[in-house]
Amino acid sequence: DGKYSDEIESVLIDEETLQSRIDEMGAEIGARYADAEAPIILICVLKGAAIFLSDFARALTVPCETEFMAVSSYGDSTSSSGVVRILKDLDRDIADRHVVIVEDIIDSGLTLSWLRKNLSTRQPKSLEVVTLLRKPEAVKVEAKPLIVGFDIPNEFVVGYGLDFAERYRDLSYIGKLHPRMYS
Ligand code: PRP
Ligand code: MN
Ligand code: MG
Repeated sequence: DGKYSDEIESVLIDEETLQSRIDEMGAEIGARYADAEAPIILICVLKGAAIFLSDFARALTVPCETEFMAVSSYGDSTSSSGVVRILKDLDRDIADRHVVIVEDIIDSGLTLSWLRKNLSTRQPKSLEVVTLLRKPEAVKVEAKPLIVGFDIPNEFVVGYGLDFAERYRDLSYIGKLHPRMYS
């Protein structure tokens, strides 16, 4: 992926490593829901999780339905404000269904803990979290994910859905942004 090569300082997780881990995650989570009586509902947290959701849904070894919710806690800044806004709510009822929230990253954990609380009031049969990335050193609120793809250092990363000011979501790998891009 040469299109942002001047702006990315280094590759943190390359495309092949990402894809093979996502295949493992799909098999592991699929096994957990093997006996589910109805397709599980994956809730993609827009926009960051959109790229991960599309690969994870196909790697999952059991049937799923995909739903989308948009929340924002960062805006155009590089650190979490803790203020979560619903920009787009679900357009379906999730009562009595097995629900899995699909996130690209747990940073402070504020977005997910807020979302978990919000969705649990809608009476799903079960509610779990799957995240591709987590920054253990940044976590303030434990979001208790079922599975974490990769624990990463507390550095600003972009790509594979993760943005800086809406850019770089279209990279196939996770990379470290060159500090000159945000200072
Ligand atoms: C980012 C990321 C997670 C959240 C993690 O989303 O995609 O959803 O922040 O941060 P937290 O654990 O500190 O709450 P963002 O608010 O930037 O919106 P986006 O997904 O549209 O980029
Ligand atoms: Mn997000
Ligand atoms: Mg963002």
